[in-house]
Amino acid sequence: MRILVLNGVNLDVIGRRDPELYGGLGISELETRLYDWALQLDCTVRCRQTNHEGEFIDWCHEAYEWADAVIINPGAWSHYSWAIRDAVELFTVPVVEVHLSNILEREEWRRFSVLEGSVSARIIGKGPDGYREALEFLVAADPASA
Ligand code: DQA
Repeated sequence: MRILVLNGVNLDVIGRRDPELYGGLGISELETRLYDWALQLDCTVRCRQTNHEGEFIDWCHEAYEWADAVIINPGAWSHYSWAIRDAVELFTVPVVEVHLSNILEREEWRRFSVLEGSVSARIIGKGPDGYREALEFLVAADPASA
């Protein structure tokens, strides 16, 4: 099972952001963990991060051709990018939305996500371990692993 992990704007600097909210890991430590977890769970991950919305969307388009599942954290784009919502809606494979922090209990403007209703699962506020939970969810849902 090939899983795309797509992190969006400002996720490259999570190591500098409030560790209480974001878990204190840098993006490369997070990605290293993801590669380790993928080995343990017998799947393959490809991790990508960008601060450019068009690139993020291009990677979605590319992934239509190869990914068996997607984990997506668009960062602040989650709260207003209908272009990302449109791109995510075109996936025919499961997509899990992850947020490190608990957006549902933060500022009003963070509580809404454009991805609501277009993803298979949402894992919110569990820090870096939320990505592991997303991987476990996707592997368990994979018909090939039954
Ligand atoms: C985030 C939450 C967003 O509100 C914020 O803009 C981010 C990260 C999270 O993972 O908690 O950059 O998506």
